[in-house]
Amino acid sequence: MRHHRTVIQNGNAVPVPLPGRYPGPYFDIERFDSMKVNHHALELEQNYLFSEVAKRIRAFQAENPDKELLKLSIGDVTRPLAKIITDEIKAAAEDMAHAETFHGYGAEQGEAFLRKAIAAYYHKRGIAVDAEDVFISDGAKCDLGNLCDLFDADNTVLLPNPVYPVYYDTSIMSGRRVIFGDGTKENGFLPMPDPAVHADIIYLCSPNNPTGAVYTKEQLAEWVAYARENGALILFDAAYEAYIRDPALPHSIFEIEGAETCAIEINSLSKTAGFTGVRCGWTVVPRTLQFEASLHDMWFRRMATKYNGTSYIIQRAAAKVFTDEGIAAVHRDIDYYMENARIIKAALTKAGIHSVGGENAPYVWMECPDHADSWAFFDKLLYTYGIAGTPGVGFGTAGQGWLRFSSFGTRETVEKAAAYLAAL
Ligand SMILES: Cc1ncc(COP(=O)(O)O)c(C=O)c1O
Repeated sequence: MRHHRTVIQNGNAVPVPLPGRYPGPYFDIERFDSMKVNHHALELEQNYLFSEVAKRIRAFQAENPDKELLKLSIGDVTRPLAKIITDEIKAAAEDMAHAETFHGYGAEQGEAFLRKAIAAYYHKRGIAVDAEDVFISDGAKCDLGNLCDLFDADNTVLLPNPVYPVYYDTSIMSGRRVIFGDGTKENGFLPMPDPAVHADIIYLCSPNNPTGAVYTKEQLAEWVAYARENGALILFDAAYEAYIRDPALPHSIFEIEGAETCAIEINSLSKTAGFTGVRCGWTVVPRTLQFEASLHDMWFRRMATKYNGTSYIIQRAAAKVFTDEGIAAVHRDIDYYMENARIIKAALTKAGIHSVGGENAPYVWMECPDHADSWAFFDKLLYTYGIAGTPGVGFGTAGQGWLRFSSFGTRETVEKAAAYLAAL
């Protein structure tokens, strides 16, 4: 039954009492107010950080058509897929052309061959992950959002600040209270738990986007102890684990004793193997995780109900990544990006500018000189040198006064930008 009808003409709503905020209309439409939208989704800021960066870059280019843009703001990979991967995609596609090797719907959790390959990848580091606990998906962002289906709205979520915006946005969209643990220059942008503060769900990202900082085993052990004391769940985002160089640093939360009772790990081949446009990730939900109910069983049910699997062809390509040749091929690209990070970091060091990250992560997080504001410094770099970074404050209030550089650009761009940065 229709309770209200609002006619909007020339962008103006006929004055009827409206609950909450509605997105503004752009053309003449009829609006119905019976079905209620998710008001939490309207609490999100409309201005997404990366859209604002793109808008300012477009304005700069329009005003300076002859000036070269040196883009160190890229959050996407730029190297093409390794041949071993594209060959496998072709071979798997060919299988689909024959009745004997054709594949239709796949298993709910993903193909066993890929789940086993991922478990073996963990085992090589001595990490006990069971293939039965691995769920294949179309990427980490989707899993991070979809996991919200498992938790009641009445949970307090603890996020690092600054933070990958998806944790915040999905928590707000699903109506949860959000509190923050601040990253600072003093703690190296690795916030630690405060025993006086209770949280139910904790997001950790290591190596971190945006700061490039990486937790040590001892620090993660403190988080695991805190989670267990609080009956809380850790959602550990390991999307950049393949960039870790220091053999002492942990690649997985499951390197920490007790994590199998309080943590879910989310990972992806996007940055490890250049799969940002191919789409494949995984989530480890151990059967040893016991809250009110088994999160493993709940996630299985959720996947069976709302997901029909990552493409068989892509799962074949993903499995190839975990072979010895696959790992060697993807590490050639990771090395390329990490050399970019080294060049950026060395230039900043030469200029006497403090930075975090860049050694075990593809992001360098620099302190803006002279206590400059993030957006003001972004504009200055863009208009003086044509260098685009990403303003730290866009990742959270604790990012004010910092700027993120990504190492996913080409060597040529990075070297040109580094020459300017070294002379800042
Ligand atoms: C920390 C972090 N997690 C997850 C993702 C998303 O990965 P995917 O492409 O698998 O959705 C990104 C991508 O930028 C990221 O930075």
